[in-house]
Amino acid sequence: MPLREIIIGRDQDDREKYGKKGSIYFGKHLVGEGKDSNLTNPVYLDVARPHVSLICGKRGQGKSYTGAVIAEEFFRLPDEIRQNLSMLLIDTMGIWWSLKNPNEQQIGLLKKWGLDPRKFDASVYVPKGFKEEYEKKDVPFDDSFSIRASELSAEDWSLAFGISLVDPLGVLLERVIRRLEESENYGIEEIIETIQRDERASEDVKQGLENRFLSAEEWGIFSKEGLSIEEILSPGKVSVLDVSYFGHMSSGWSVRGLLVGLLSRRIYRKRVEARRKEEISTIRGRKKIDIPMTWVVIDEAHQFLPDEGKTPASDPLKTLVKEGRQPGISVVFITQRPGRIHPDAISQSDLIISHRLTARPDFEALRNIMQTYMTFDIKKYINNLPRKKGSAIVLDDNSERIYSIKVRPRMSWHAGGTPSAFEDEEEF
Ligand SMILES: Nc1ncnc2c1ncn2[C@@H]1O[C@H](COP(=O)(O)OP(=O)(O)OP(=O)(O)O)[C@@H](O)[C@H]1O
Ligand SMILES: [Mg+2]
Repeated sequence: MPLREIIIGRDQDDREKYGKKGSIYFGKHLVGEGKDSNLTNPVYLDVARPHVSLICGKRGQGKSYTGAVIAEEFFRLPDEIRQNLSMLLIDTMGIWWSLKNPNEQQIGLLKKWGLDPRKFDASVYVPKGFKEEYEKKDVPFDDSFSIRASELSAEDWSLAFGISLVDPLGVLLERVIRRLEESENYGIEEIIETIQRDERASEDVKQGLENRFLSAEEWGIFSKEGLSIEEILSPGKVSVLDVSYFGHMSSGWSVRGLLVGLLSRRIYRKRVEARRKEEISTIRGRKKIDIPMTWVVIDEAHQFLPDEGKTPASDPLKTLVKEGRQPGISVVFITQRPGRIHPDAISQSDLIISHRLTARPDFEALRNIMQTYMTFDIKKYINNLPRKKGSAIVLDDNSERIYSIKVRPRMSWHAGGTPSAFEDEEEF
């Protein structure tokens, strides 16, 4: 029987029509169990259609690495396909700038796979207020990003500040934002002035809210210009938004949530608009792309879309996963804890890439989505994986199949990996 290439995420119709076109090299099929498993056929991943994917696995098993392999492959797509796509990586750990450096750590492993170390021209953006810190640390970046305070709703602020809209602080917040709605582009300064001018709230409440906004100013992300989504998502581009710096702050996750929420909303809006234009121009025989189909990759996704509670990113991300297919938006959630991410993220995923897992609630979370067509024991599958970093099982809803795979080694440097005293410890 001739060896058959696996294209995960691609259904039979597309396979017959397009073959491998519009797919990326992802790894190899693992056949056999545990130590006796062998690497066999290449495995590809469809990027021509929108997908919602979940990459999970316990600590240090290769999740962020796998996310970076997908990013690397974007650069290797033929131009005519790459120009129809763009990718945004939400980098919570500050590790994906290393796409810009070749992988000199795993040269032996790369050779076994017939690959060479290579650097990729990803565009790295860091928060505007902390550019100097990044410069001091010698982290290479291309530009800084900021957002407009006026793009955030009262609910966004209340979620970021952890206050309820029915509390006195929340009531004042809502009134202030409503008052400002008429001005086009206001900043924190105008918000504070409006708080001070309020005649209904008590001085204490006004002071309390003002303090929140003063601390928000220290997040270093607000400016009147804001970021241009057209620039970050221009055709063929892979952008890394480094939000790791906020890890130093007590409100770190709130700030990141605000950013991811705002970006998701804007990407959705822009792509809905772009899709309409694309359809019209296709009808008229021309095809022009403003913002191409977009892949959004989010590390530590359970922090943005948790199963319990709500963040400023929760609703916008739910919209992306539920309604992103038509406007051509793909989302890749990366998480250590599938049991902690909102069930929508899992139930809407058509691709699940699971590295080793051990916690029972995490198995349960995955099991829940499989009931429809799979009867096997997922735990057994995962336990049968060889204990090699980068091994994973893939549940593919498009072909209704499950595969064991080994993700290919990275061509670019992997920052943030597990420190090791050994060189190139991988055997395959
Ligand atoms: N496909 C692979 N091929 C070879 N080595 C790999 C592969 N995937 C992961 N590794 C190795 O495993 C290490 C840990 O991977 P990674 O940083 O992606 O873990 P993680 O699952 O994201 O962990 P955490 O949950 O702590 O963020 C890497 O530094 C690398 O050495
Ligand atoms: Mg990681």
